[in-house]
Amino acid sequence: MRILVLNGSPRKNGTVANLLKSVVDGIPNKYEVEWINVYELKIEPCVACMKCRPDQECILPQDDGHIVGRKIKEADGLIIGTPTHWGNMSAQLKLLFDRNVPVIMGEKRNGMPYPRQKGKPAVIVTACSAPWPLNFIAAESRGAIRAVNHILHYGGYRILGKIVNPGTKSRPQISKRLLKKSRTLGSKF
Ligand SMILES: Cc1cc2nc3c(=O)[nH]c(=O)nc-3n(C[C@H](O)[C@H](O)[C@H](O)COP(=O)(O)O)c2cc1C
Repeated sequence: MRILVLNGSPRKNGTVANLLKSVVDGIPNKYEVEWINVYELKIEPCVACMKCRPDQECILPQDDGHIVGRKIKEADGLIIGTPTHWGNMSAQLKLLFDRNVPVIMGEKRNGMPYPRQKGKPAVIVTACSAPWPLNFIAAESRGAIRAVNHILHYGGYRILGKIVNPGTKSRPQISKRLLKKSRTLGSKF
């Protein structure tokens, strides 16, 4: 059994990365965990040729987009971390998913989507500089969570929980309470 961690932050030791580490700390021993720093990947942008629909690997020359797409397909669970960038997920994380639409969902002949990863467990982690309750009211972290959730929803993933750390500018230190909550969430896999 394997869980894939996608750190969508350019920072390898930032808030998102450290929350992800706490989620991983809680994961039961039966799982093997693979960690990917998404900003280290070399991924060409999606050219929107739509040739991957409904069921073909991306036709661009082989790059890390293909390799990680296969890993997402084979993983038994997913932990996705992203900083909030412009009220959304980070650009490189979105690019990874843009390049892997058919890994997440299929399309019936009538164009209706269907999930390709049905029932697999997933966790979402985000951090943002906007303090509570602005992070929610102004759709800062709420925007990032919504965007990742959109993809996971189409994949049919079962969301075990979400970790949100607002206000990182004035409070760069992660609270013990949130680290504990993250570990507890990891134990739900
Ligand atoms: C390009 C960019 C865009 C950002 N956009 C937002 C935003 O829309 N809302 C917000 O509250 N914080 C925003 N931030 C701040 C980050 O979300 C915040 O610093 C977060 O804690 C970074 O997490 P990390 O240390 O794990 O990368 C942005 C930061 C960058 C670099």
